[in-house]
Amino acid sequence: MYRLIYKSRSVETLNWGIVRSITSVSENNNEIAGLTGVLLASRTHFLQVIEGNFEDVNAAFQRICKDERHSELCIIGYSIIDARLFGGWGMRGIGAFDFNQKIESELVEKYGEEEGGIHFPLEEWQALAMISDIKMIRDLPEWKK
Ligand SMILES: Cc1cc2nc3c(=O)[nH]c(=O)nc-3n(C[C@H](O)[C@H](O)[C@H](O)COP(=O)(O)O)c2cc1C
Repeated sequence: MYRLIYKSRSVETLNWGIVRSITSVSENNNEIAGLTGVLLASRTHFLQVIEGNFEDVNAAFQRICKDERHSELCIIGYSIIDARLFGGWGMRGIGAFDFNQKIESELVEKYGEEEGGIHFPLEEWQALAMISDIKMIRDLPEWKK
């Protein structure tokens, strides 16, 4: 199994509507292809993790590369893995654009600032650490709708 991580710039300022429109199609496609992962969005950038078989990860990535909703795609990591980190998630969207001031400042202090929001790292281990931090914040009871 393989894990691909990339970062890209959104052509539009991101909000939940845009993230949901991507993840709803992705969840369906990814479930059929046996892919799992996470799509993290700041106001300006995406950071996506896709896990699955070599052919399926590559086929999805080829489609994603052609998508005109983003540009400046940059591969952060492509590794052979023993187990999935995001098993059970066809493609979970996580927004990093509507945190309160305190959480935003903490994340900016830890990962740096990029165009007024949290900087999405280009190192694999940092990217995974950031996803883990943001996932934990999103899973706190006060974020549950
Ligand atoms: C940031 C981003 C992430 C995406 N992630 C996926 C994904 O994980 N799986 C997927 O099937 N499509 C994903 N898409 C959508 C694809 O680019 C494409 O629109 C979709 O797969 C339908 O492709 P088709 O029109 O060739 O059938 C993503 C698009 C963007 C902009």
